[in-house]
Amino acid sequence: MSASYPENLRQEVECYLEGMRFSEEALTAGLEEAMRYSLLAGGKRIRPVLALATARAVGLEQHVVMPLAGAIELIHTYSLIHDDLPAMDDDELRRGQPTCHVKFGEDVAILAGDGLYAEAFRHLLTHQRSAPARVLAAAAELAAATGVNGMVGGQYADVSPRTPPGPAALRRLHELKTGRLISASVICVLLLGAISDEREIVPFRRFAAELGVLFQIVDDILDVTGTDDALGKPRGSDERHGKRTYVSEFGIKRARELAGDSHRMALDALAEAAGESAAAHPAGPTRQPGRLEGIVEHERGTAPASVLPASRGAPRATGELRQIADFIYTRTS
Ligand code: IPE
Ligand code: IPE
Ligand code: MG
Ligand code: MG
Ligand code: MG
Repeated sequence: MSASYPENLRQEVECYLEGMRFSEEALTAGLEEAMRYSLLAGGKRIRPVLALATARAVGLEQHVVMPLAGAIELIHTYSLIHDDLPAMDDDELRRGQPTCHVKFGEDVAILAGDGLYAEAFRHLLTHQRSAPARVLAAAAELAAATGVNGMVGGQYADVSPRTPPGPAALRRLHELKTGRLISASVICVLLLGAISDEREIVPFRRFAAELGVLFQIVDDILDVTGTDDALGKPRGSDERHGKRTYVSEFGIKRARELAGDSHRMALDALAEAAGESAAAHPAGPTRQPGRLEGIVEHERGTAPASVLPASRGAPRATGELRQIADFIYTRTS
C-alpha cells in the first residue's frame, strides 16, 4: 500500500506540461510529436512535485516555480528516452507505452532527448520570473546536477566496466545518476527563493540527497518485485543486463532494510529543515550507526548535521515533502 501523494500538485504539473509546445514550423513538428509523446505518457512527476512542495516549505507561492518544475521534468524525460535506447538499457516499455525509439526510431528518439534537454533550459531561462541572478543560480545548479558530476556521470558509471565494485561505489553511482536531479528539484527552489542561510540550506540538502538515494534503491527493488503493468516498464531489466543494483549487491532483504534506513535519515533531515529537533520528530532520532556505516559517503559539500546549529526561524511547512518521502518509500511494500 502506498502513502498518500500530493495528487493536486501532480495534476497541476500535468496541466502545465500539457501546455508546452516546442516546434515553430512544420519541418520540426515530428520532433515535437516524439518529445510530447514521451513527456505526456504519464509518470509520477516526483521531481516537479518535489519542487512545488519545497516552494511551499520555504514560503514561496507554488505556481511561481512552475517553469523550473516543468524544465526539470523535461530533463527527466530526456534521461528516460536515452536510458531506454538499445545502446543503453534496451527497453521497449516506458510509462506503459512503447519507448520513444520503438515508436519513432532510434534517430528521432536521440534527437527528442537532445531537444528536451535544450528546451528545458530555454524554458527555464525564458519563463522563470525571479531576479535574474537567482534564475542563473538555479540554471547553473540544474546544469551541474545533470552533467558529468551529476546524472550523466552516474549513467556513465552505470555502464562503465571501470566502476569499482563494492557498496561505496554503488551508493555514489546512485547519488549521481538519480540523486543529483532529485536533489536539484529541492536546491533550485532554495536558490530561486534566495535562501542563503547555510543553517537552513544544510538540512534541506541532506534531505534531498538522501531522498534521491532512497528513490533509486526503491527503483532497484521494484525492478525485481514489481510487475510490468504497475511499473509501466519491464520488470527484470537490471538482471537481464547484469546491472549492479542494491538488490544484486545486498540481496532483497538487506536492500529493503537499507531503504528503511535511508527513509529514516531523510525524515530526520526534514524534521531539522522544518525547525523541529530530530528528537521531537514522530519517527524519533532514527539514524542507526552501524547499518550504513562504511557505505555512506556524504555528498560533497554537505556538512554533517552537527556542524551547524539547527535553524531556528519560523517553522517550515514540510508536510508535502514528508508525503513524498513516505510515498517513495512505501512503493516497495
Ligand atoms: C525512473 O524515474 C528513472 C529513475 C531515475 C529510477 P521515475 O520512477 O520517476 O519515472 P516516471 O517519471 O514516474 O516515469
Ligand atoms: C536510470 O536508472 C536513471 C536515469 C538517469 C534515467 P534505471 O535504468 O534504473 O531507470 P529505469 O529503471 O529504466 O526507469
Ligand atoms: Mg539505466
Ligand atoms: Mg533503465
Ligand atoms: Mg531501474
